[in-house]
Amino acid sequence: MASKLAPYIFRTSFRSARIASRSQCRAFTATPRVTSDALQVHRDTPQNNASIPFKFTEQNNKLIDEILKRYPPQYKKAAVMPLLDLGQRQHGFCSLSVMNEVARLLEMPPMRVYEVATFYTMYNRDPVGKYHLQVCTTTPCQLGGCGSDVIVKAISEHLGIKAGQTTKDGLFTFVEVECLGACVNAPMVQINDDYYEDLTPESIVTLLKALQESTSQVDVKPGTGALTGEDKNVKSGADVGKDSGRIYDKGGVKIPSPGPMSRRKTCENVAGLTSLTSEPWSTEVFRKDL
Ligand code: FES
Repeated sequence: MASKLAPYIFRTSFRSARIASRSQCRAFTATPRVTSDALQVHRDTPQNNASIPFKFTEQNNKLIDEILKRYPPQYKKAAVMPLLDLGQRQHGFCSLSVMNEVARLLEMPPMRVYEVATFYTMYNRDPVGKYHLQVCTTTPCQLGGCGSDVIVKAISEHLGIKAGQTTKDGLFTFVEVECLGACVNAPMVQINDDYYEDLTPESIVTLLKALQESTSQVDVKPGTGALTGEDKNVKSGADVGKDSGRIYDKGGVKIPSPGPMSRRKTCENVAGLTSLTSEPWSTEVFRKDL
């Protein structure tokens, strides 16, 4: 009996000794921990606490009525996202008071509104600068054109801030974001509501300088779409920097217009058509009205 058990005891003890010699601690992740730009935990600050009153303006209340008509009355909480967006545009960021007001209007628990606002990165939980620079650093933008790394470096050097920070004058907030869906015109940046594409280190600095120059003359609420609105006067063909295309002329201040800064139209090849340049040889029928 002892001779039959000996191999088993030997094997088991050997395996146990081998396991015991190994470290029993295993990391949950192999990559270094990355701290997020903003903790999704609310801490009361003088600019953001529940005692700060917030009400939608009369004009926004009319918009809210229009938005709510899109949903059956029993599902009006489905309007939480457009209402949060409206609140952010009015107030500059999604403060606790904005979220509480949205919860009150939609008759839903405030926690449900907080959950939405903290899930989507488009809702700014903290005040942002007048110009909110969101630089795409996802792979296509990192590899396309001159690459987003040099754009990030150019912005940091020009503004003297790092990603996640706001300039002391409150003019620019600079963050890195994931794909914004304009990969074909990489690298690109979203400034408030507008996309600037085909960037180079020179064109982004030119753009920042133009925005700095314009601030004394353009009165815009922080982070609410400085470069959009009906009062923009778009001109063609003028230069701000060597890479820019059209400009806005706002009170004599020239701001590059959104879109590709390389003069190409949308995402068309800057060198013109390289395919489908000859008459079609088959018998397709084309619409005559185009
Ligand atoms: S990767 Fe930058 S816009 Fe898509």
